[in-house]
Amino acid sequence: MTNHSNTKIDIVKSSTSKIDHVDFENLTFGRTFTDHMFVCDFIDGKWQQPKIMPYQAMSFEPSARVFHYGQAVFEGMKAYKDDTGKVWLFRPKDNHARINKSSARLAMPEFPKEYFFNGLETLLKMDKDWIKPGIGNSLYLRPFVIATEAAISASPANSYRFMIICSPAKAYYSGKVRVLFAEKYSRSADGGVGFAKAAGNYAAQFYPTSLAQEKGYQQIIWTDASTHEFLEEAGTMNIFFRINNTLITAPISDRILDGITRRSIIQLAEDNNITTEIRRVSVSEIKEAARNGSLKEIFGAGTAAVVSPISAFEHGNEVFEIPDNEKSFAGMFKKQLEEIQNNLAEDKHGWRHEVIL
Ligand code: COI
Repeated sequence: MTNHSNTKIDIVKSSTSKIDHVDFENLTFGRTFTDHMFVCDFIDGKWQQPKIMPYQAMSFEPSARVFHYGQAVFEGMKAYKDDTGKVWLFRPKDNHARINKSSARLAMPEFPKEYFFNGLETLLKMDKDWIKPGIGNSLYLRPFVIATEAAISASPANSYRFMIICSPAKAYYSGKVRVLFAEKYSRSADGGVGFAKAAGNYAAQFYPTSLAQEKGYQQIIWTDASTHEFLEEAGTMNIFFRINNTLITAPISDRILDGITRRSIIQLAEDNNITTEIRRVSVSEIKEAARNGSLKEIFGAGTAAVVSPISAFEHGNEVFEIPDNEKSFAGMFKKQLEEIQNNLAEDKHGWRHEVIL
C-alpha cells in the first residue's frame, strides 16, 4: 500500500459515538452516517489544510453557487472488513481519477491524490468500528465537491468544498428490480455531462423515475436521447444483457457513466471465458430476444447496487417478465466480485487496496 500520511490533517474527534444506536441489520441505504467526516476547502486557487471533524450540519450562504447552478460532483465507493479485521477499498484509484474527470467537466478544480487517499484512510481508521465484516456489509463512502462561493452570476465558482461522508450499507435494492425502458424522457445527450457523476444527472431522473414508480417500476433504463432506440444505463447502475450465453453491454460514451463495477464485470466475464460484446443494444433486439426466449438475463451493476438482477421490463405498453435463471451470470459475477472485495478470493487484477489501521 502507498503511504499517503505526508499530508497533515487537522483532526477534531467526536466526544461521543452514535454507533450504539445503530441497528446494523436493518439499515436503509444512505440514512445513517458515521461519527466523522473529511473536509477540505479550495480558496484562492489552492486546496487548504484538510480536516476531519465530527459529522455535523454545515452552514453556507444562500447565494452559494451550488444551490443555484448545481455545480457539484460526487463519487460512490465502499470499504469492506474481512474476518481478520483488515479493511479494504475496491479500486479506489479509479474513483479518484473519475471524480477529477467529473470535476474537470464541471469547471471545478481537481483534488490531489495524496489528499484523497490520506483523507479516506485516516477517516476509515477513525470510523473502522462502523465497518462490519461479512459479505453484504460495507461502509459506503461518498466523496463530493460543491461550489461554495457566495455569488449568483452564472459562472464557475472560485471556492469549493471537498468532503467525504461515510454510511454503513447493506443492499441498495431489496429483491429484484422491475424497469421501464425510456420512451419520452432522457438522462443525457451527446456532448453533455452524462459520463460525469454530476449531481444534476441524478436530480434530472427523479421526476421520470417517480412516474415509473407509480406504475410499479423501481428504475428506468435510459435510451439514447435522439431516437430512444438504444439502451444505455439505468442511472444508478450500468446495464448488462445476456442473450443465450453472450453478455452484452453498451459502450461508454459521453452519455454513459464509466462504471467501476461495469469495468470489473467485463474483466470477470473475460476471466470466465464468457463471450462479451460491447456494442449498441437496441430496444427491438431485446424485445425480440425476450419473445423468442433467448433473453436469459438483464442485470444492473454499480457500487451501491453491486449486481442487481432485473425481473421485468416494460416498453410500448408491453410487459416482459424475465424468468429466473438458476445459473445466472448475475449471481456468479456478484459472488466473485464480493469475494474479491471481502478478501475471500485471489485478487489477480490488483483491485483490492488495504487500509492500514
Ligand atoms: C453508486 O452506486 O455509488 C452511486 O453513486 C449511485 C447512487 C445513486 C447511489
